[in-house]
Amino acid sequence: MAIFNFFDDGKREPILMSGKKVAEEIKKRVAEEVQELKKQGITPGLAVILVGKDPASETYVKMKSKACKEVGIFSFVHRLPSGIRTEDLLEVIDMLNTSPKIHGILVQLPLPSHIDTNQVLERVAIEKDVDGFHPYNMGRLVEGLDGLVPCTPLGVMELFKAYKIPLEGQDVCIVGASNIVGKPMWALMLNSNATVDICHIYTRDLKEHTRRADILIVGVGKPGLITEDMVKDGAVVVDIGINRVNGKIVGDVDFDRVKRRASYITPVPGGVGPMTIAMLLQNTVKAVKMKKAR
Ligand code: GUN
Repeated sequence: MAIFNFFDDGKREPILMSGKKVAEEIKKRVAEEVQELKKQGITPGLAVILVGKDPASETYVKMKSKACKEVGIFSFVHRLPSGIRTEDLLEVIDMLNTSPKIHGILVQLPLPSHIDTNQVLERVAIEKDVDGFHPYNMGRLVEGLDGLVPCTPLGVMELFKAYKIPLEGQDVCIVGASNIVGKPMWALMLNSNATVDICHIYTRDLKEHTRRADILIVGVGKPGLITEDMVKDGAVVVDIGINRVNGKIVGDVDFDRVKRRASYITPVPGGVGPMTIAMLLQNTVKAVKMKKAR
């Protein structure tokens, strides 16, 4: 039984989950909180580290900087050469870890292959880890403790909240088991009392899993991966993929066909993407508040 049964008349259109709209509301709230902190003499500060010149990363970093400016967060991008040694990158992080003006540190991924990404992410001070990628923060998340949570899965949770999607007891299928999206998404869903199935590149029969899901969440970076026949009638479909195909941005879901089956669906662009950025701003303010409370 799907959560929503909208298809009695066979015509009903799915509800589009507009991350763009929800993110704007969250940004308004964050901007007010930033103003409040500024009155107390604190300007939230975010440091972004960008290694190399990956065009997609450049775009994401620009979007993050622009969003910071919009809500009054101070942000600075540290652009580092692609050939930088891991030790030199760690030194930059150490400097930011001790800077009193910086409350959040974000290392844009992916890093060049010669750099030890795990060592870099583990070097970020846990209280400034606004991406929530440090193993300590990941551990807190798995245990259901309060802390800094990775922005994309947190943004998906906010979308569910905004559209009043019930989670308890639902069959959820997550496609993609990355540390950035799939694994933290799994933890958040499990902590919301959903039954969670997580699929990845070695899953033998993907469709067999996706078809059972009341809520299908996909984030692998493969355009057209999820076709109509893989989706249960009335399912909630969340597309985290961002792919460029012939100059157009598309997700991992065959949107035009899958929307005929879904009760709720996120568009790409304008779905999860804006939520990720809104959560980064929210996490930066949260890092400030956590520091104050200590
Ligand atoms: N690369 C792709 N997604 C992300 C993200 O959420 N944070 C960082 N730092 N890098 C990314």
